[in-house]
Amino acid sequence: MDYMRTQKNLGPHGLPDVLISSQDLHHRIEELGRQITNDYRGRQLTVLGILKGSFLFMADLVRMLDIPVMTEFMGISSYGTQTHSSGEVRITSDVKHPIDGLDVLIVEDIVDTGLTMEYLVKYLQVRNPRTLKICSLLHKPAKQLKPVTIDYLGFSIPDHFVVGYGLDFQGLYRNLNYIGHFTTPPV
Ligand code: IMP
Ligand code: MG
Repeated sequence: MDYMRTQKNLGPHGLPDVLISSQDLHHRIEELGRQITNDYRGRQLTVLGILKGSFLFMADLVRMLDIPVMTEFMGISSYGTQTHSSGEVRITSDVKHPIDGLDVLIVEDIVDTGLTMEYLVKYLQVRNPRTLKICSLLHKPAKQLKPVTIDYLGFSIPDHFVVGYGLDFQGLYRNLNYIGHFTTPPV
């Protein structure tokens, strides 16, 4: 079904241009799922989704995994302007179970400056997981300030502010089924 035709009223800025289509997202997530399944075969994986941005990616990714999976979530807010993060991170909801001794895979929507991920990795590492790896759907290398090793990356993208498939602008557009951007930025 062509969902894009039915998505016309998602926000006041019109429909964003397609940067990554829903088909391309699906194919790439299938590949990531195979790769993660192979890497963790014989083990149980704790997939830790970072809310809110990762909720759709997480939902699609875990369904591609053919290993025993536990799911956890953390809520994170990063302060900053509407389209630029400041690196000041606030944990709004923490993991509900201890992660020591577990194989943990952080699932994030996008690594931009890397400040959020750097903070998160430090925060989780002291809780002694057996392994801690990062899976991010998107990466904007142009903006990176902190060195972050993304173990599983969906797509590297140019320095556009993107929305859709979990990512928002002013809380909207998360339900867009593709990654889009505005040719004329709304800010
Ligand atoms: P970082 O700390 O600069 O790496 O930013 C990470 C967070 O900023 C992400 O988890 C997103 O919530 C948000 N973010 C960064 N770039 C974008 C974007 O292009 N669209 C929507 N949110 C973004
Ligand atoms: Mg986020």
